[in-house]
Amino acid sequence: MNTAPDVAGQLAALRAEIVRLDHAYYGLDRPLLPDAEYDRLFRSLQALEQEHPELVTADSPTRRVGGQPLPEFQPVRHAVPMLSIRTETDNGLPGAQAFDARVRRELGLMEQDALLEYACEPKFDGLAINLRYEQGVLVQAATRGDGQTGEDVSQNVRTIRSIPLRLNGEGGAQPAAVPQVLEVRGEVFMSRVDFERYNARQRALGKATLVNPRNGAAGSIRQLDPKLAAQRPLSFFAYGLGEVQGGTLPGSHAAILDQLAAWGLPVCPQRTLSFGVAGLMAFYERIQAMRDTLPFDIDGVVYKVNDLALQHRLGFVTREPRWAVAHKYPAEEALTTVEAIEVQVGRTGALTPVARLTPVFVGGVTVTNATLHNLDEVRRKDVRVGDTVIVRRAGDVIPEIAASLPERRPIMTPEFELPTCCPVCGSAIEKPEDEAIARCTGGLFCPAQRKRALLHFAARRAMDIEGLGDRLVEQLVDTGLVHTPADLYRLERSHLAALERMAEKSADNLLAAIDKSRETTLARFIYALGIRNVGEATARDLARHFVRLDDLLAADEEVLRQVSEVGPVVAAAIARFFAEPHNREVIRQLREAGVHWPEDELPVPAAAGFSAESATTGVTNRVAGRTFVLTGSLPSLTREAARELIEARGGKVAGSVSKKTDYVVAGAEAGSKYDKALALGLVILDEAGLLEVLQA
Ligand code: IVH
Repeated sequence: MNTAPDVAGQLAALRAEIVRLDHAYYGLDRPLLPDAEYDRLFRSLQALEQEHPELVTADSPTRRVGGQPLPEFQPVRHAVPMLSIRTETDNGLPGAQAFDARVRRELGLMEQDALLEYACEPKFDGLAINLRYEQGVLVQAATRGDGQTGEDVSQNVRTIRSIPLRLNGEGGAQPAAVPQVLEVRGEVFMSRVDFERYNARQRALGKATLVNPRNGAAGSIRQLDPKLAAQRPLSFFAYGLGEVQGGTLPGSHAAILDQLAAWGLPVCPQRTLSFGVAGLMAFYERIQAMRDTLPFDIDGVVYKVNDLALQHRLGFVTREPRWAVAHKYPAEEALTTVEAIEVQVGRTGALTPVARLTPVFVGGVTVTNATLHNLDEVRRKDVRVGDTVIVRRAGDVIPEIAASLPERRPIMTPEFELPTCCPVCGSAIEKPEDEAIARCTGGLFCPAQRKRALLHFAARRAMDIEGLGDRLVEQLVDTGLVHTPADLYRLERSHLAALERMAEKSADNLLAAIDKSRETTLARFIYALGIRNVGEATARDLARHFVRLDDLLAADEEVLRQVSEVGPVVAAAIARFFAEPHNREVIRQLREAGVHWPEDELPVPAAAGFSAESATTGVTNRVAGRTFVLTGSLPSLTREAARELIEARGGKVAGSVSKKTDYVVAGAEAGSKYDKALALGLVILDEAGLLEVLQA
């Protein structure tokens, strides 16, 4: 049992912590905890105060609804207080059931009475805003503040294009007159695309990224310079009303939202009407199933009694209506710790830092790793081993570290440093000063690169050896059976039988697939070699130009540059590859093993080959058919190399920026193309971003 002084101390500590978190969140736009963690603290304060009502203080954070107004914005006293809603914390059936049962009881309904009608909406993860229209004209926009008094953020809200500055009361399908005073309440939020775009742009500029869309919305609405606010694109959905004078409105929540939509206000298309518990449950599940594909973040759904007369009868408890409830989904952000930062080695030796995390359940899956992209990104986010971090997994985006919490860092934690030699093979690492990417110099000596090289060799668009996947390559290399692609053609049944979990039938299938791959085309063969900067398109150009492999092997850089679309960097990479005696030896062995192609036939033209293939396989990637514009100089790729990489995946590179441009790749000293891309709100990538898109 707690003694009173203990409880008083606990309460004081909890309040102080929540005040500190509130200030960081609302005042500084710098959340220190994921929402779910904050909610837990807040609920424990509420519970403790409920047990000890005599210890509740007037300034306790539980006594107000939201954050305190910032001194910089003018205070706005809400004519009708902006309320909060109760959250049903249990998942699934009990939440909806508890709400329906409570409402029916409070209305005095019996079991045999009809089902209640509910308006159901997603719970948007943004910031509550009150829009005040007088004679149909937007005169003021305010945040919720503490529920009684908010902040005048009219300037910033006016930059949100979907919010009408004047309501269309005349004409239209439902030309009802707009009341003289109409306060519309709803949520301002940042869509997922806008969030990703904004962060891509910030990354390209080497600037700080937003932690999540909600923070992005809150930050721009409370941005003191409206010009800066306007650069962060926001959206709005109306979900209710504040003060209304001089006009009549429909008698149900759903009809009111329809009316608001008719006047030109955005309302969420996913809202619906449903009946009874089963209806609420069905909505909860339907929205949960589409949660990942919705264009905006949500953290739950909201159920509201539809009939306004019933709402009125139900009334309020303290600051919450009895007629509405929020039903939450599992959080998309969670706290965990970084146990290690490991470095992965890719096919071309590129090193990628990956955070190994204490497993944490977030966004419906258990997350154990998060990529950190490259050293610059680790530095920018200041992630260190031992750090407490916020992991975010929203939508179908791969999990990432949204932020680290340096204030929780154990003292003397060193910054992350790349290893000085390759963690797999011990070879030296090279990282030119001006490049983001560090590489292992071990080449095919490095088992990690060898495994990736073999996977690339066997890939469908290369030699197309079906069944030669990750696990098998791992075993073949680790047991020493395969060192180079040529070794594949020397494999026998007895070798494969010795491998773990290799059934006779699969061994035979693999041998048959390897045998079948002996017959190929020169373009596929060149591509399969995995020469740096030589994608499918360049491989086809080379095959078309030289026709005979021996002519390609004999070409020096100058000759290589005569091939259309081959620039100095790519030519140098090809020449370097073929100058390696060991690469020539592998090629000799492959031919000796019977790998062949028609040497006298001209291969099909590049474009036709690619599109036919992607059309039949239905493969979608983020590059095929998309238009890229390159501007400025990239840290490691030249223009030609970047162009080749893009074209190899079916993308196009255009010379000028327009609305039809899908991606703008910007490097140092990017000029007017970059400005135009900003003005059009296009996706802007840096080199790392481009490589990510290419690998996706
Ligand atoms: S109705 C009196 N509907 O959730 C009831 N709120 O505590 C007023 N929210 O921050 C709220 N989506 O901004 C309502 N469809 C929705 C909502 C919603 C998000 C937010 C609201 C407030 C919190 C409610």
